[in-house]
This record gives sequence, C-alpha cells and structure tokens, in this order.
Amino acid sequence: LIHPVLLSGGAGSRLWPLSRETYPKQLLMLNGEDTMLQEAAVRATDATRFAPLVVVANTEHRFVIAEQLRAKKINDARIVLEPEGRNTAMATAVAALIASDSDPDALMLLMPADHIISDRAAFLRAVDAGAAAARAGRLVLFGVTPTEPATGYGYIQRGAALDGAPGVADVARFVEKPSLSVAEGYLRAGDYAWNSGIFLLNCRTFIAELERHAPDVLASARTSIADATEDMDFLRLSPAAFASAPSISIDYAVMEKTDKAAVVEAGFAWTDVGSWSALWGLGDKDAQGNVRVGDAYALSSSNCYLRSEGPAIAAYGVDDLIVIATPDAVLVLPKHHDQQVKALVDLLKKEG
Ligand code: GDD
Ligand code: MG
Repeated sequence: LIHPVLLSGGAGSRLWPLSRETYPKQLLMLNGEDTMLQEAAVRATDATRFAPLVVVANTEHRFVIAEQLRAKKINDARIVLEPEGRNTAMATAVAALIASDSDPDALMLLMPADHIISDRAAFLRAVDAGAAAARAGRLVLFGVTPTEPATGYGYIQRGAALDGAPGVADVARFVEKPSLSVAEGYLRAGDYAWNSGIFLLNCRTFIAELERHAPDVLASARTSIADATEDMDFLRLSPAAFASAPSISIDYAVMEKTDKAAVVEAGFAWTDVGSWSALWGLGDKDAQGNVRVGDAYALSSSNCYLRSEGPAIAAYGVDDLIVIATPDAVLVLPKHHDQQVKALVDLLKKEG
C-alpha cells in the first residue's frame, strides 16, 4: 500500500482577502462544493491502493481539517501538527519518518492540498505508472507539459528512459523556480516539464538523500517526532525542534541535488490554484467573459473576476479587473498584476 500524505501548510496569501492565515485557501470552497483539501483527501482514498491518509498541517487548523475529513467520511486519517511552518522539506521529512516507522519499504505519495485535479482515474494511472520505479528506489516526479515560461514552478529535464519502468525517465536536471529568461530557454529546448508538486517517494531513499543533502532538516524532523505528544487524533510535533529547524522546500533541499529522481508524465489536467486569475480561468463565464461569484453584477465590462462574500459588487466599463469583497476587506487590481497580492498582504501586515 502507498502512504498518502497531504501537505496543508501554505497561507495562500495571493488569494487574500478570502484566504487568511487562520483560514487558508485549501480549506475554502473556492471552486465547487468541496474544499481543495477535501478533494485531495478523497483522491487518495481507496483501500486497495492506499494506507490511511496523513495530513501535515499547522496546529491552528486542526479542528477545521478534522471536521472537513469527517464530512467526507474519512475517519482513519492521522493529522500531524506543526507548531509553525518550516516549509516542505521539514514537513516531508516528518511524514517519511512516520511512514517508514511502520513500514521500512514504504512508498509515500506526497500531495499539495491546494491543487485542482478533476480526473481522478488519470491521476491514479499516473501513480501506478510511477510505482515500479519508486519501489526500485526512485523519487518519482510527475511532469506536466509546460505551456508558458512560468517562473513559479520547478523544471524537470527528462533524461534516458528507465529500464523496466515503461513511461518513466531519469531526471537529467531539476531546477526550482528559474528566472524568466532561463524558463524561456527551457521551453525552447523542449525536453523540460513542469514539476506538478506531487511526489511518489521511496521513503528509504528519501531519508538517505536528506541525510546526504539536508542533514539538519532530517535531524530536526527526528527530534520533532521523538519529542512529540499525542493529543486525541492529533500528533503534536515538538515546538522546540521546529523553532530551530531550517526553513527550505523539498525542491531546493533534495530535488535539485539528488541523482535518484525519475519522472513520469502526469497525464492528468492539473491547476495550481495560486492566484485570482487561475480561479477566473476555472470559473463559469458570462457572455462577456466575466466570472461573478456571490452578489456581483457587471455592465459593459469584460473578463473580470468579481466575487463577493457580503456587500454587493457592481462594475461598469472595466475590463480584466479583479474585485473581491469580504465583510472586512476589499481587493481591487488588474488581472495581470495578481501576483502582487502577496506584496499587498505584506504591506498590510506592516502598516495595516
Ligand atoms: N505542512 C506544511 N508545512 N505544508 C506546507 C508548508 C509547511 O511549512 N509549506 C508549504 N506547504 C504546502 C502548501 O500548502 C502546498 O500545498 C505545498 O506544500 C507546496 O508548497 P507551495 O508553497 O505551494 O510550493 P510552490 O507552489 O511554490 O512550489 C511547489 O509546487 C509547484 C507546483 O505547484 C514546488 O514543488 C514546485 O517545484 C512545483 O512546480
Ligand atoms: Mg503551490
């Protein structure tokens, strides 16, 4: 059985003012009836394939997460609590140590809690395609065909095909979040894929690679579990170990450095719901291309994303605009600047 792990640590600040630190985007119903966390949890629920789910999340979100899992009738999940976020290398190290404690040969399917993947069958096919290579000791990535020189993703250069694992290739090179000019070069080269952010990891290999490339992360993860406390269904990791743990992502800490990575084609449609324009892309549009959610109206306006959780929004004569209204905050900005929401949130933290 594969051990599924959901990472639910990000604050999703580019989706402010809906996404808040106390209630981040993966716990919100942004695009449908279920939250992204619920969708991801259901994706990895199948007793013939998967062991019970593990969710690694911030302590603050424990009750919301437990409640959302219960609502989907997932009653055997383990919720592992971080006293503070230390990025994905630490969260993954903790999950790998826990999985390999019960099963030294464990494979772990690491999934972000904030992606939309609607074709579950295609997702499971990709996992099956990568499983042989993972069993043989590889760290398997799922490559997505790039459509633009995006700088927010990892880039995977495909190497030679792996023997005995159809559809799986060696990773020649992994580069996390390259600059625009470098990303443009990768797109032209044609043998690069985006990293989907989903990983199928051989835990033994992953722990050995941490030992080699990020020993301080591994040491902190070990201490955080050794000094953890059980609290009902929750495992509370040690605050002291987290306070001193390095904050680095799995991509920089391990994937850029390891020679054990392999890549399989994702083969499923995938959206990293990182920004308001991503939600505009996913949403149902009116004849003018506006997506309107809640009490929102538009005249002579096109391609806007208007969303209200309270006050009515009425827009006239504007194009490509984002307006998000909540009871205590309103965001207005042009769609092509939506990566700057993060900067606005930082400004509010400082001056607000
Ligand atoms: N538990 C926990 N603790 N989860 C975390 C933490 C943490 O400290 N930090 C981030 N996460 C979760 C996020 O909530 C998200 O679900 C996932 O881990 C990935 O983190 P992001 O911060 O969203 O990473 P990214 O989007 O910048 O980059 C990653 O994903 C891209 C694809 O979406 C990388 O793996 C890239 O290479 C990849 O292309
Ligand atoms: Mg992300």
